[in-house]
Amino acid sequence: MSLPYDKEMRDLSQDGKGSGLGSGLILGIESSCDETAAAVVHAGTGALSNVVASQMDLHANYGGVVPELASREHLRNVVPVVRAAMEQAGVSFEELDAIAVTEGPGLAGALLVGITYAKALSFGLGKPLIGVNHLEGHIHAVLMEAGKQVSESAKLLALVVSGGHTHLYLAEQAGDLAEKSAAGVWRYCNVGRTVDDAAGEAYDKVAKLLGLGYPGGPWIDALSRRGNPHAVPFRFAQIKPRAHREGVSLPNKKAPARSSGPSFDFSFSGIKTAVLRYVETHHMRESIEARRRALAEHSEWRPGSDEAAALCDQQTLDLIASFQYAVVGNLLRQAFAAAEMYGAEGIVVSGGVAANSELRRRFQSEADRRGLPVAFPSLALSTDNAAMIAAAAWPKFVSGEFAPETLGATPQLRLGGK
Ligand code: KG4
Ligand code: ZN
Repeated sequence: MSLPYDKEMRDLSQDGKGSGLGSGLILGIESSCDETAAAVVHAGTGALSNVVASQMDLHANYGGVVPELASREHLRNVVPVVRAAMEQAGVSFEELDAIAVTEGPGLAGALLVGITYAKALSFGLGKPLIGVNHLEGHIHAVLMEAGKQVSESAKLLALVVSGGHTHLYLAEQAGDLAEKSAAGVWRYCNVGRTVDDAAGEAYDKVAKLLGLGYPGGPWIDALSRRGNPHAVPFRFAQIKPRAHREGVSLPNKKAPARSSGPSFDFSFSGIKTAVLRYVETHHMRESIEARRRALAEHSEWRPGSDEAAALCDQQTLDLIASFQYAVVGNLLRQAFAAAEMYGAEGIVVSGGVAANSELRRRFQSEADRRGLPVAFPSLALSTDNAAMIAAAAWPKFVSGEFAPETLGATPQLRLGGK
């Protein structure tokens, strides 16, 4: 059995308008982790709406995302969030060209809520369903806003850095689509990834260890500005090239992405342990517990506030600033080295950690020094959202890459080869 949109798509392609495209409007739905989101995006670039219902406060009580609670919250939120996105965009369901939904990676139960709802909408409306990899969505969060110098590049180096992921991708544009499309079809190759914790996870764990709030990234970002980044010299161990680790011999430098020379992989569990060791050897436990208690009583205090900063002595602020300086330095070195090695024409950085102010400043100044363009999403599109899902779906819609009616959640979904 085929879905009703098979026929509609054939009719559209024969409608005499030449392009085979309809309104250009795609509804995106995202529910892979702790944000229920929906957005309507036109032709992969123009967001008409972008609605996000965050569960942050719910999970903050547990210091991390609780999968079962996340699924229940998505169930509660998905209908009103989609409705709000449609209303804000001022379009009717009939005007949509397609429904796009995150198929993975993410939490199985959370993904299923978005997927089941998107499938029902797609079937009920007779519109195509498009499955989107969440990681590709993060990359499109940058592409949908970036200038032509970046979005029309043939080859980019993409750093996706969030609470669940730290990946370097070589993204190559496979050529022009229909004239209506601002973005071409991208192909990805994973050239680096974390071998243990994600960078955002390290932020969250270090913040928790130091008695700060959840998620930790915004806390460490804000407090780092008040500390000395050179006070504690954290170092990152050199990760062996993956082919060596896996016992495979290395071909020469010109060989395809993954198997060549240096490693662009990351490891963030070591720095977390180093912070813990510093805390123990400098007898900081008591002050950490006092801070934890004070913050528990004042959940209204925001990361950048003077009240929150006043809870940290200078030694703690210096430790926080040194941690961030080291993490950002590591991300920067790996990203720029990989961009150089693979001849990328620019760098895009996305995911929750791309909201970090020091990361943006240092990436921008290194890019300027090298004369290489670098692009970030606006802050609203750095963390999880559905506009990026609808944007990533556009080239798939244009090239007719639709999801089967059997589309399911793929919690470990990978992007690109290797
Ligand atoms: O992309 P995202 O919303 O969700 C995942 O797919 O993981 O990223 C959330 C992560 C959290 O680890 C959070 O601490 C981190 O992004 N984050 C930040 C900042 N804002 C959010 N990390 C560093 N600096 C920030 N300003
Ligand atoms: Zn994400």
